[in-house]
Amino acid sequence: MVQMAGMLYQSILRPLLFRMDPERSHELAVESGKLLNKYPLLQKITSLFLQFEDERLKQNIWGIEFSNPIGLAAGFDKNAQLLHAAGALGFGFIEIGSITAEANPGNKKPRMFRLYPDRSLINRMGLNNDGAETILKRIKNQHPAIPLGINIAKTNSPDKMGDEALRDYQFSYKAAREAADYITINISCPNTGKGKTFEDPSALAELLSALETRKEAGAVNPLVKLSVDLSESRMKKLVDICEDNGIRGYVVANTSSSRSDLSTSPSKLARIGSGGLSGKAIANRSTAMIRTLYQYLDGQKPIIGVGGIDSFEEALNKLTAGADLIQLYTGLVYEGPSLIKRINRGLVRYLEKEGLNSLRQLPRS
Ligand SMILES: Cc1cc2nc3c(=O)[nH]c(=O)nc-3n(C[C@H](O)[C@H](O)[C@H](O)COP(=O)(O)O)c2cc1C
Repeated sequence: MVQMAGMLYQSILRPLLFRMDPERSHELAVESGKLLNKYPLLQKITSLFLQFEDERLKQNIWGIEFSNPIGLAAGFDKNAQLLHAAGALGFGFIEIGSITAEANPGNKKPRMFRLYPDRSLINRMGLNNDGAETILKRIKNQHPAIPLGINIAKTNSPDKMGDEALRDYQFSYKAAREAADYITINISCPNTGKGKTFEDPSALAELLSALETRKEAGAVNPLVKLSVDLSESRMKKLVDICEDNGIRGYVVANTSSSRSDLSTSPSKLARIGSGGLSGKAIANRSTAMIRTLYQYLDGQKPIIGVGGIDSFEEALNKLTAGADLIQLYTGLVYEGPSLIKRINRGLVRYLEKEGLNSLRQLPRS
């Protein structure tokens, strides 16, 4: 059944969706998801086809029960409109956002592009979202059955620099604490001023100190999301700062600004212009970064692996590199929602074949 759903998506729905502007197809997907979100009966029917449960996929991380390791990555449900739909589609958790202190329309359109031959996307959405207050009100009325991550970023406004940028993050962090099972601090954000981003070590130290993550850890679970473009030495520097500040895990990784090794023509890439590359094109680099981080931390902190997961094999690559949980965005666009069940079922078959009783027993390589 799930194979058929995958084939239907790829042979009928995807060609229709791919005829449209990428952001328009995304909006259509969100609108369908909102319908699913509204009607419990529809959720029940959907879950009959798409959910996959197995004891061996369950994990307790940060004291939170995850029924399976696959989450919806930040950026898909920026405004928390798919909280129930995500569970019905088979996700084990959802990360909404990035949310920012102020509502923002984001960058000028077009701002999302498909690189079909690379099974990848480029986006420069510009942190469009309804704003922390509105989104948190929405969540209060409907906390999902699955664990909820809230991803926070700085409002996309060049005027917000220095202390104002810190206050902006503080506002969203405080709001997110009310509802989140974990909070992801997205530091690959627009400038904090003077050309710096929060991936600058001193800016990150200031930010985590302003958020008092060290004091907070325990009450909330603050995570930091790193860009796939970080060099190994910069990543380690940032992780040292995170460790000093009580960060409880990492999301690896955010999109890339690199355009190397793509099959898409240079002229098309030039027409598209700037933006973050996601999907298959960043899969190997994200996996390598997870592996380095896992070894650096001696496996002592949970890692959420994300970047180019579009199959069971790629999911397994991330998990054996050191990820405890994984997330999908671009893979969903190319493979459709049946990908979630295909990965979960593949993992259970793999555990069976290897004689393992849980994901925790997967060998790390
Ligand atoms: C259109 C789009 C919008 C995104 N928006 C956000 C965002 O607001 N915050 C964030 O932390 N990551 C955002 N991401 C990054 C994803 O969460 C993920 O880290 C990245 O796409 C790599 O995963 P993938 O290859 O499975 O897409 C976005 C990605 C895409 C494609």
